[in-house]
Amino acid sequence: MGAFSDVAGSVKSSQKLINLLKGHVSSSPHSLHPVIAGPHIPEERWPNTALLPTQLLEKATHNVLKNKTIAFPAMCYGPDDGDPRLLRNVASWLTKFYQPADPISENRLCITGGASQNLACLLQVFSDPIYTRHVFLVSPAYMLCFRIFEDAGFHTRLRAVPEDDEGIDIDFLERQLEKSEEKAKADGNDEPPLKPSRPWSKIYKYVIYAVPTFSNPSSKTMSLKRREQLVRLARQYDALIITDDVYDFLQWPSSLTTKTLSVDKAVLPRIVDIDRYLDGGADREGADGFGNTASNGSFSKICGPGLRTGWCEGTAKLAHGVSQTGSSRSGGAPSQLTACFVAETLETGELQRYVFEQLQPIYGARYRKMVEAINTHLIPLGVRLPQADREIVGGYFIWLTLPHSLKGANFAQRAKDEENVVVAQIQVPGDTEGSGTSFENDIRICFAWEDEDMLAEGIKRLAQVIRRMLDEHTVNNDDTSLVTAANKPSQDAKDFW
Ligand SMILES: Cc1ncc(COP(=O)(O)O)c(C=O)c1O
Repeated sequence: MGAFSDVAGSVKSSQKLINLLKGHVSSSPHSLHPVIAGPHIPEERWPNTALLPTQLLEKATHNVLKNKTIAFPAMCYGPDDGDPRLLRNVASWLTKFYQPADPISENRLCITGGASQNLACLLQVFSDPIYTRHVFLVSPAYMLCFRIFEDAGFHTRLRAVPEDDEGIDIDFLERQLEKSEEKAKADGNDEPPLKPSRPWSKIYKYVIYAVPTFSNPSSKTMSLKRREQLVRLARQYDALIITDDVYDFLQWPSSLTTKTLSVDKAVLPRIVDIDRYLDGGADREGADGFGNTASNGSFSKICGPGLRTGWCEGTAKLAHGVSQTGSSRSGGAPSQLTACFVAETLETGELQRYVFEQLQPIYGARYRKMVEAINTHLIPLGVRLPQADREIVGGYFIWLTLPHSLKGANFAQRAKDEENVVVAQIQVPGDTEGSGTSFENDIRICFAWEDEDMLAEGIKRLAQVIRRMLDEHTVNNDDTSLVTAANKPSQDAKDFW
């Protein structure tokens, strides 16, 4: 992927490009996923570079490298579970932020190379590509996780699970699990044929992947009730729920007139917190102690993605299992040096202050600008936002449902051609047995990258496109007329999106 390579603007438009996708062009734009994913789309997950705390990191780097007692272990192979100072600091920050009934102990944690890298590790240690019957993904899902599941052997066994305004559709998931168990019984799939039995790991029958808070891409937050239901279901069917909790710290009040600019406590317990306590927790009678959840945290969104550092939380048994991934046993926890830099920023309290005093207010202001413009220009045209009644919002994205007659892919293409605004249209083709796993009316916009003063302008331009398309629709009074030869996405465009 080209670092900082930007999306190409429209050759037809003389207006300045507004990037509400902020993509990089993938090095393999033609890859097709046979089951769930479509063409590999460039994925937005970049902070505006002005929000990268270079000074904070410069100081931490200097402090670490000048102190030999810290520098030498930082530059050597690290412990399997990661730098002890980072473990200690992450444990205490998470305890303050999520406020579980008991402090989060360091043995519930393992330092990782970030959420993506650790998803791969979790699959290496806790799944078998045959015994693990399916990976269920809350849909629409974070597209770049598909390749990680493919690499682990699940390319034909990914299944999309729809979500409603409360989050994952539990009934749908339960029906799929039941069906799958019947098939596993009929096939005699009753022990892992490929992975050896090892004391530090177990092989789960299912994996469920979700981004429960400020999701990428749907921007939704899963309700407490659904989180609890999901944990119960996972226990019943021996599933490991892997959550990317990477946006949790980026939150602020949704009110457009708020005086409170930052919120230093999580609004909801993570799914891993629920598994810790619900109905006796992971140590309840009859349970094996591994628990049913792994929370992937990351410094990518709250410090910088180039750090490639994060953490995983689960039961002590699960966290130990993660630390025993072959690559960590050989090379020590990933990202050892940057982990030590991050530890320094947490130990001084500077990173925490940066998140609460800078990132939250700045992203919050961007969010409010965008939502204000959406309320003024898009809602009157029939555009809808999910979970409009939330008090606390966050993340990088806003998900928009277009008026029914407008198709997202077509709209995205016209927004680019006619107004030089780039947005993401996310499709999850294949495996759409249930309704709610097709997103042809939806687009995702990002407020994290584009210059703040261009956000409202971007929305105004999107409104122009909608107006034009609605007018054409009225004239033609025919749904299918909206996809004409002239405005149909070109092959290039399809590859790009
Ligand atoms: C849902 C989700 N998971 C994982 C990642 C990547 O995290 P990391 O940089 O820690 O690998 C992103 C970043 O875009 C994301 O949106």
